[in-house]
Amino acid sequence: MTMDSFEFTKLAGAVLSALLLIFGTRTIIEMTVGHAPEKPGFTLPAAAPAEAAATPAEGAAPAAPAEDIGKEVIALLPKANAEKGKTIFKKCQACHVAEKGKTPTVGPNLWDVVNRKKGSYPGYKYSEAMEKKGGDWTFDDLAHFIHGPKSFVPGTKMMFSGLPTPQDEADVIAYLATLADTPVPLPK
Ligand code: HEC
Repeated sequence: MTMDSFEFTKLAGAVLSALLLIFGTRTIIEMTVGHAPEKPGFTLPAAAPAEAAATPAEGAAPAAPAEDIGKEVIALLPKANAEKGKTIFKKCQACHVAEKGKTPTVGPNLWDVVNRKKGSYPGYKYSEAMEKKGGDWTFDDLAHFIHGPKSFVPGTKMMFSGLPTPQDEADVIAYLATLADTPVPLPK
């Protein structure tokens, strides 16, 4: 007697499980396949970049064209803060020395770089792209290069993706301008 009801319970359980499996599977198929066209599951990844582009101010510098940011940096230069720039320059020191006469490390020595001819630090081996760029390091060119090395000098070997804000970039350029026997006055 006990055995029979136990068997029955097992059977009933098996039937219920089977039904659950069938309806459960159908529901899942309907949810995923049946409704897929009207409600695609991948709206979020597509929406994310658009959202990032809409708010480029917070560390998302690459979202805006390098040209525009370059202009923004130039506009900030007259009031840029060289003292703050000195602190920001620590990030550059991973690759650059900037003391007069000091042997370059990964990148060229940046002493006296403002208005220096591009790719001209004696004894430093520049990329071909930098050697061919031509012209001097004007404030304008520095702004564009520091903001987006690869877009301003395609093929440069400076592996750097810009600073978090145009203000940081303006401040670091203001600091570079002090690194000379006769500091270069900032544009007005
Ligand atoms: C990861 C290493 C690295 C970092 C970080 C880095 N640079 Fe450079 N930089 C280089 C290299 C390498 C070159 C040489 C590029 C070439 O020859 O194409 C260079 C070149 C330059 C030049 C051109 C100088 C010349 O003599 O023509 C300037 C200006 C410059 N860097 C500024 C900066 C500033 C400012 C920062 C910080 C905001 C910075 N770099 C951060 C590696 C770096």
